Amino acid sequence: MCGIVAYIGNKKCKSILINGLKRLEYRGYDSAGIAILSPVQNEKFEKTGKPRFQIKVEKEAGKIKVLEDLVKNIDMDGFCGIGHTRWATHGEPSKVNAHPHFDCTEKIAVVHNGIIENYSEIKEELIQKGHKFISQTDTEVLPHLLEEYLKSENIGDLQLAMHKLLKKIRGSGAIVAISTDFPEEIVAGRIASPLIVGTSKDENFFASDMPAVLEHTHNFIVINDFETVRITRNKVEIFNSDCKLIEREPFKVSWSIESAEKGGYEDFMLKEIFEQPYGVKETMRGRLLDGALNFDELNISEEQIKNLKKIQIIACGTSYHAALTGKLLIEKWAKIPVEVDFSSEYRYRSPIVDKNCLFVAITQSGETIDTLAAIREAKSKNARVVAITNVVGSTVARESDSVIYTHAGPEIGVCATKTFSSQLIVMYLMALYFAKVKGFVDGVDYDKIIKEIKSIPDKIQTILDNAEKIKNIADETYKHTCFLFLGRIYGFPMSLEGALKLKEISYIHAEGYPAGEMKHGPIALTDTKTVVVGLIPRDFIYEKMISNLQEVKARNATIFAIITEDDKNISRYANYTFEIPKTIEELYGILEVVPLQLYAYYIAKNHNRNVDQPRNLAKSVTVE
Ligand code: AGP
Repeated sequence: MCGIVAYIGNKKCKSILINGLKRLEYRGYDSAGIAILSPVQNEKFEKTGKPRFQIKVEKEAGKIKVLEDLVKNIDMDGFCGIGHTRWATHGEPSKVNAHPHFDCTEKIAVVHNGIIENYSEIKEELIQKGHKFISQTDTEVLPHLLEEYLKSENIGDLQLAMHKLLKKIRGSGAIVAISTDFPEEIVAGRIASPLIVGTSKDENFFASDMPAVLEHTHNFIVINDFETVRITRNKVEIFNSDCKLIEREPFKVSWSIESAEKGGYEDFMLKEIFEQPYGVKETMRGRLLDGALNFDELNISEEQIKNLKKIQIIACGTSYHAALTGKLLIEKWAKIPVEVDFSSEYRYRSPIVDKNCLFVAITQSGETIDTLAAIREAKSKNARVVAITNVVGSTVARESDSVIYTHAGPEIGVCATKTFSSQLIVMYLMALYFAKVKGFVDGVDYDKIIKEIKSIPDKIQTILDNAEKIKNIADETYKHTCFLFLGRIYGFPMSLEGALKLKEISYIHAEGYPAGEMKHGPIALTDTKTVVVGLIPRDFIYEKMISNLQEVKARNATIFAIITEDDKNISRYANYTFEIPKTIEELYGILEVVPLQLYAYYIAKNHNRNVDQPRNLAKSVTVE
């Protein structure tokens, strides 16, 4: 996610902005920029006698250090400015796409964190009115819209223009703007992306996150959806969604900068697990419009989808488990044969691939070397390559024919958690989209599936609200030395993921298995030192899973079952149970994996492991 910092007060703000951006570096970013309102030397407005202002801007791709070195010797001091670290969502990471962005007259500068879903139609409208754009970003429409409202529509107030802008855009955004015509204020608006005001004597701040300004103030006000705010040097004015001025008292935080970076969580991994309701919503954004599915980014015609002979999915690690889920759903709903391979195996096994095959590569980092090598292999055989990744402008994104971004926000913990749930959402939506195009899903089923997908963020939240229960189970079972994760069909990839999470961060031996395979070998492992984690939702294979659990129960394993809410049946077989909300059988996986992530996390914490940086592992695996 992008980072925002803005300052107005009695101090020169260049270094305040740069330091604020440095405090946001932990969030991940690919470029950074600042814009400062500076008085034009010896120029005053005739009528008012007040100085005339200009906006001085500097931005660069890459590290903040580059920007810092650049601005060191540039005269751009003023008392009001905005800064931004960009994490690309639309348009590659580059200087031109970095924020702040400007209107045509360069009188308005804007920074933004979020995604404007309807930016193409707004851009088109603005182009018709004579606006010119220079970047590939969705953000650039924002200063142009403000310009339009202020000039052509004669709205003589920056906050009112921001209010109007919030009504116009669809999507998410924390938006902060300065204007040379309003040099004594900074204005912001929020839809769904975090935005806070930091307040202090003779100075006020906007920020996406507290660490940006924690060295200046510990007094904060949280801004809610569809609210707009005007800050001046000594005033904070908040307006509700009806544009009425409202009162909100600041609250005080005692967090250190380090704990604020983690949002008060102990580790980035835990923070990222808890960010999943927001992450999956962002993945759905723009793709689920009033019940209709939009997959323009696939860049494949309906005719081409109907003619697909095969889909080949490749991935590594956690992404491979998303691929396995994709196979189950695409084959069930869209009836297209799907092969799934580990990227590292794919090119060494003489795969059959040609132009009638859609080749899908899943990788959160977009840099995994094995996945990249498999893509190159497929491209050399004329397959059309679609990448599913979380990192805009990554090598995989650049080398693929089309890209679906998961938009989960940067993931700092080495363990993939929120990027995985976002990959699952893409798999659900893509499978359903193919089924719709091929006419294999009728209106009733389609509406039901869409409704269930839309309810996932709330259901994940319900699970997270009960995290303490998982912690208690982990506290009681962490000393076991062998963990077997069992699932069937949609639960099987999740059993693999549960085992992988536990291995990665606790260094305890764990395996994921299709429950029906236990009696073909692994059951020999079970004894009193074994925990069997059974995924046993109320689906069509429920009874079979119960039999599988009984088999391990008879061998004295401790059983921890993830079950559907109100299922009172399983406590007869299991030592521990955790309930997940009801959904349709195809979607249980995403609800099962959240307690598994938490379970792995709490077991690892019991063993005092560094969960954010587990031994021997890297976030991007760029060696073969
Ligand atoms: C997940 O927790 C792991 N860190 C690892 O298995 C990871 O999923 C794998 O290396 C693939 O990475 P990618 O999605 O960036 O390609």
